[in-house]
Amino acid sequence: MSDASTTAKTYPPSADMAAKAHVNAAKYAEMYARSLSDPEGFWREHAGRVDWMTPFTKVKDVDYTLGQVSIKWFEDGTLNVSANCIDRHLETRGDQTAIIWEPDSPSDPALHITYRELHTSVCKMANVLKDLGVSKGDRVIIYMPMIPEAAYAMLACARIGAIHSIVFAGFSPDALAARVNGSNAKVVITADEAPRGGRNTPLKSNADQALLHTADDVKLLVVKRTGGQTTWIDGRDFDYNALAAEASADCVPEEMGAEDPLFVLYTSGSTGQPKGVVHTTGGYLVYAAMTHEITFDYHDGDIYWCTADVGWVTGHSYIVYGPLANGATTLMFEGVPTYPDASRFWQVCEKHKVNQFYTAPTAIRALMGQGNEFVEGCDLSALRLLGTVGEPINPEAWTWYNEVVGKGTCPIVDTWWQTETGGHLMTPLPGAHSMKPGAAMKPFFGIKPVVLEPASGAVIEGNDVEGVLCIADSWPGQMRTVWGDHDRFEKTYFSDYAGYYFTGDGCKRDADGDYWITGRVDDVINVSGHRMGTAEVESALVAHAKVAEAAVVGYPHDIKGQGIYCYVTLMNGEEPTEELRKELRTWVRTEIGPIASPDLIQWAPGLPKTRSGKIMRRILRKIAEDDFGALGDTSTLADPSVVDDLIENRMNKS
Ligand code: WTA
Repeated sequence: MSDASTTAKTYPPSADMAAKAHVNAAKYAEMYARSLSDPEGFWREHAGRVDWMTPFTKVKDVDYTLGQVSIKWFEDGTLNVSANCIDRHLETRGDQTAIIWEPDSPSDPALHITYRELHTSVCKMANVLKDLGVSKGDRVIIYMPMIPEAAYAMLACARIGAIHSIVFAGFSPDALAARVNGSNAKVVITADEAPRGGRNTPLKSNADQALLHTADDVKLLVVKRTGGQTTWIDGRDFDYNALAAEASADCVPEEMGAEDPLFVLYTSGSTGQPKGVVHTTGGYLVYAAMTHEITFDYHDGDIYWCTADVGWVTGHSYIVYGPLANGATTLMFEGVPTYPDASRFWQVCEKHKVNQFYTAPTAIRALMGQGNEFVEGCDLSALRLLGTVGEPINPEAWTWYNEVVGKGTCPIVDTWWQTETGGHLMTPLPGAHSMKPGAAMKPFFGIKPVVLEPASGAVIEGNDVEGVLCIADSWPGQMRTVWGDHDRFEKTYFSDYAGYYFTGDGCKRDADGDYWITGRVDDVINVSGHRMGTAEVESALVAHAKVAEAAVVGYPHDIKGQGIYCYVTLMNGEEPTEELRKELRTWVRTEIGPIASPDLIQWAPGLPKTRSGKIMRRILRKIAEDDFGALGDTSTLADPSVVDDLIENRMNKS
């Protein structure tokens, strides 16, 4: 690798951080060693951070053997996640702010919601859901703007034992319908409109469209956000605000088994349609809470802000469940980094005196491009720690974040993890580890990374090595299954490399033994930190009447990290026009959502295929990267001339 890892500058933790942090270097070494040598003892102890209704006696029961994969933690214990995130704090911090809500428009007032108020709102939402017929084990879809009611909805489901599945508000009606059907949900919770960056997305009408393609008895619970309400179907639609006004403010939390599902979150894979990642109650909460406290070095009284959306796993673990389980003050932001202008993030940090700030590299790159004056005009003196998540961060962006935002005094935690992992698996800890720009550095407690030879699966020992990244054993926050398809779970994560959890990422362990994530090794792409399967975009494209065939790959994009590059073969007789390009772009946006909008569409008279008809994506990736000098072996192609045409007409001529 001729990348940053060989020449990386290292930034050791400051003496101050090392002295004050929950975990310093010596403590990390001791805890990490114990977490591997005595996982049962380690996790028995750390599961004590959660209040159990019935204490567990069994810590761990895990089998990674193909055909019988089974993952259980704290299995005979019972608890309730909502009680852990709210009720247990009431006595000591009832009047403390649990959630600061910052609306899309800076001229609208922010809200400060105390733990006591959170309790009332969540109980009311829980009672409303019960009255709609939702009970333990039922699925509820949440399709909401970033408003406090989204968090109430999550916690209300947890309170009554319903399983929530959040669908990002940027997804289309079709995508929403697929998830309602896939999870067999009883109720969809939405809002009239979602304001973002000064524009309103009509969520309720999207939901109306989606429900045309679902079972007739799905109910729609509508929260008022803007008042921009158009249609109403009596008997199907329910006015949340009216019902909540009448609902009781008490709701006894349901006693849940540690292994009862807490939520399903759909995420993209290498093949086929998104899969429902299932997280359960006990292990997930222990892991989300512990990583939140230790990675961000959260201390009582801190104001913590994660800029993610609750539609992604980051919002689940690090806006809602982790912080609230820890009794933290967590900031929820409805808007976007560039509205009204590129100083918004920093204005919000100043306004609410944010201590820990956690965002995605794509946002950092976009803001970096706008100039330093947007940062320099704001008082960021409260900031103590910065974090990134979702994709590799390039050293330039890291350095800008460190110097311009953090003024060289805030450690940056580059947290590597996945929807599947529930919480951070690798990150430098602020008081314990040096940082290197772009490196995920060290495994969290209980995580044993292994680097494997991609083809043979042989374990690569030693340092200064590169391969695919697997994890040798389980951790409490690990996903348990794919909703409704345990086979797919086993095949996706446990079949390629026997005995390991396969992450889908490539990785390098450098000369010092520190870890660098090199990106996905499968057909998943990461666009602006949003994870997408190229297969999903392909299937949207071929659903268009004029498209015969499509192949989609990622290519390097300055701001988004990766852009979406589509090769499209049209039906015989169709004209490859600029209008059709626009039409296809709009088509994909409606099929999936704006985040899947193709960046480049190349008309491909033919696609490079092997004689057995398999598309050679390696070649398509190279052409999209404008790196066709090294196409490798093309001798197995059925028609090598196809490649010359694709190169000639490539869209990314850098
Ligand atoms: C990538 C997001 C490099 C990785 C929490 C992973 C990262 C995928 C990092 C999961 C990071 C996430 N450095 N790459 N710090 N964090 N990734 O499920 O490829 O949306 O497999 O979870 O994002 O994306 P997901």
